Amino acid sequence: MHPHVEGENLGSSKIEKYNSLYKIVKSFVDGENDDIANMANVASIIHKAFSFWWTGFYRVIDGELVLGPFQGPVACTRIAFGRGVCGSAWKQAETLVVPDVDEFPGHIACSSASKSEIVVPIKKGGEVVGVLDIDSQYLGTFDEIDKEYLEKIVDLL
Ligand code: SME
Repeated sequence: MHPHVEGENLGSSKIEKYNSLYKIVKSFVDGENDDIANMANVASIIHKAFSFWWTGFYRVIDGELVLGPFQGPVACTRIAFGRGVCGSAWKQAETLVVPDVDEFPGHIACSSASKSEIVVPIKKGGEVVGVLDIDSQYLGTFDEIDKEYLEKIVDLL
């Protein structure tokens, strides 16, 4: 039986919440090797814990990012290499923290409600195989703590 994932009972600080989330994600992912199933649960766990605007995955398929499991409103289906925040994080193979999406050249606005964003590449054997993308309806939501913990969570996949 997995614990319920609700923002209120995960701890009060962001670090406490992320430490709880890490354990919860680990308990789901250990022993399950289906990537889609794991991405679906990870998207739900993170999304519910922080009440983000949009939380989801894009997978690299035939040289493009293709929409994967997510929580939130409908989103762009395909993103080219180097395009937008997601395509740039893929190209640079590193996490991008964007405090104000309007200041990011080429940002792809799937929703005008999205104000800040973090994109974390998922790497397997040195290759980027997908990205975790989180959008917030507030400016400046993401910082080094989100980067550090989301990278650790993505490493579990
Ligand atoms: N804003 C992203 C596109 C994906 S959606 O936000 C879900 C980007 O610029 O890559």
